[in-house]
Amino acid sequence: MTTNPSRIALVTGANRGIGLEVCRQLASRGFVVLLTARDAAKAKAAAKKLSNAGRVEPLLLDVADPASIKKAAAEVASRYGHLDVLINNAGINYDTWETAEHADIDAAVMETITTNLLGPWRLCQAFLPLLRKSEAGRIVNVSSESGSLANMGAGPPAYQVTKAALNALTRTLAGELRSAHILVNAVCPGWVATAMGGAGAPRSVQEGAAGIVWASTLPDNGPTGGFFRDGKPLLW
Ligand SMILES: NC(=O)c1ccc[n+]([C@@H]2O[C@H](COP(=O)([O-])OP(=O)(O)OC[C@H]3O[C@@H](n4cnc5c(N)ncnc54)[C@H](OP(=O)(O)O)[C@@H]3O)[C@@H](O)[C@H]2O)c1
Repeated sequence: MTTNPSRIALVTGANRGIGLEVCRQLASRGFVVLLTARDAAKAKAAAKKLSNAGRVEPLLLDVADPASIKKAAAEVASRYGHLDVLINNAGINYDTWETAEHADIDAAVMETITTNLLGPWRLCQAFLPLLRKSEAGRIVNVSSESGSLANMGAGPPAYQVTKAALNALTRTLAGELRSAHILVNAVCPGWVATAMGGAGAPRSVQEGAAGIVWASTLPDNGPTGGFFRDGKPLLW
């Protein structure tokens, strides 16, 4: 299944960082990859960078803009008629400088909720009609162990809360979609050296992306409603 050239995968926030590397790895496995970004020129430039990896096509998609999501879904419907893998990777605001007590709810917190939670939720709604047409639909929500309630304490407030909520969305959707055989999982890439993770992070984008690709290419009897890093379960 992982080498079937007709499989289509869409990755959000893929012009740089982990998303870009996920595109590279999926393209090299034979997927047709829709590399999406909120800036059309950046999507195009990033797709060009991956031209040696396989078939990578740029697509404009701002996860914070409902109209942009609808437009992208209509475009994928008309170009391909189905989608096999949806990867909700775009994420913002690792707000380590902030506290829950003082965070600006009407500005940074709302922006983070819009991008990290409502974006993936809207994406799932918009693309589920196309995922239902796949023989092996997969949704991967790129989350973070920062969103794990098991050990949560003080920490980046908007980020922690939105990733915990993204995990809840993952379990909710996984339950709803079990009978449709669409597998929905949350994946933490670990602490990765990107603009978000910083240059001092111990993991490479290749290592971070591998666990996301694993969840994107699960066999039909693979897990659903789980939270993983490197293919191994994490505490919720
Ligand atoms: N790096 C880590 O250590 C780490 C750890 C745990 C989880 N994660 C998660 O992994 C994912 C990828 O993170 P990263 O480290 O690769 O971060 P990154 O280098 O900062 O990249 C974030 C990507 O998201 C895009 N983005 C932001 N807002 C968007 C929007 N409204 N619509 C579309 N794209 C948008 C950015 O596009 P622009 O270039 O246009 O800004 C960029 O392509 C995130 O969900 C993050 O929370 C990362």
